[in-house]
Amino acid sequence: MDTMTTTKVAAALCGALLVFLLGKWAAEGIYHTALHGEPSYVIDTGEDEAADEGAEEEVSFIDLLAQADVEKGSKVFKKCSACHKLEKGANGTGPYLYGVVGRPVASADGFGYSDALAGLGGDWTPEHLDEFLTKPSAYAPGTTMSFAGLGKIGDRANLIAFLNTNSDSPVSFEAAEAATDDASEAADAATDAASDAADAATDAADAATDAASDAADAVTDAASDAADAATDAASDAADAATDAASDAADAVTDAASDAADAATDAASDAADAATDAASDAADAATDAASDAADAVTDAASDAADAATDAASDAADAATDAASDAADAATDAASDAVEGSDATTSGN
Ligand code: HEC
Repeated sequence: MDTMTTTKVAAALCGALLVFLLGKWAAEGIYHTALHGEPSYVIDTGEDEAADEGAEEEVSFIDLLAQADVEKGSKVFKKCSACHKLEKGANGTGPYLYGVVGRPVASADGFGYSDALAGLGGDWTPEHLDEFLTKPSAYAPGTTMSFAGLGKIGDRANLIAFLNTNSDSPVSFEAAEAATDDASEAADAATDAASDAADAATDAADAATDAASDAADAVTDAASDAADAATDAASDAADAATDAASDAADAVTDAASDAADAATDAASDAADAATDAASDAADAATDAASDAADAVTDAASDAADAATDAASDAADAATDAASDAADAATDAASDAVEGSDATTSGN
């Protein structure tokens, strides 16, 4: 591509962009796409806004009232004019509203108020009117004023300022503002006082904390001392117990020792007695054996003597018998010899 072609392409692109931007600018000029201001068709039911805005408005209502536009207020009053007239004494569906700002509630001559309104009491101060007109059915439940309410605080401020011009003795909104200022100052003073009170309370709390801390320390010390004393007492008691136990152990040991000694002695005595008894028994046995032996010996000796005697006697008897026999034999022999002699001689 040469330089000329490149330049043409660039120029074409720039041209196209330029045409596009110009077209967009022209289109926006003709058709406004962005939303300006508020939507055109809004049906004002009053109720939604009344419910939503109620709370915050009161703060700035007095300020709005001070710079209210009476002209705009007269236009807002068209919403009321179906039922209310501004001329003094001219009651319609609703009571006449001439001088209503600052007027006692439910005080229009010749108008039959509902119990709801008649029972309210007080005056229609700008603030009360503001609240009532925000949502009549909420401020005076049961009211026969069938009007939803004015949702915009600006409308109410302008309307009330307008109503205030239809009066023999218009209320001074500056006074109300001053009252507000006073209230503001009083509120500041109250805030300061509250702040001081809070500081004092904080100090008191600190003091109380310190006192509590000291008391806690004292309690801790006392507890510590008591604990030490208890520890000492416990230690002493333990020592005493140990000593007592030691003494008791010694006593037991002694007693045991004594008992052992006594037992040893008793055993020894018993042993001695046994030994003695055994010895005696042995002696007795020895004696008895000796006696028995003696008796046996004696008996044997006696028997031997008797045997000897018997033998001796027998020997004597035998000797005698033999002697006798010998004698007899001798005699016989002798006789035999003498008889043969006689036979031979006498024969
Ligand atoms: C549909 C009719 C109707 C409309 C609209 C109406 N009001 Fe009323 N208004 C009444 C009635 C009825 C009473 C008496 C209410 C009662 O006794 O409970 C009343 C009472 C009042 C009162 C009390 C007066 C007193 O003497 O205590 C005030 C203030 C008032 N209206 C202001 C207004 C304003 C301001 C508007 C316009 C923003 C308005 N009203 C719109 C019917 C209406």
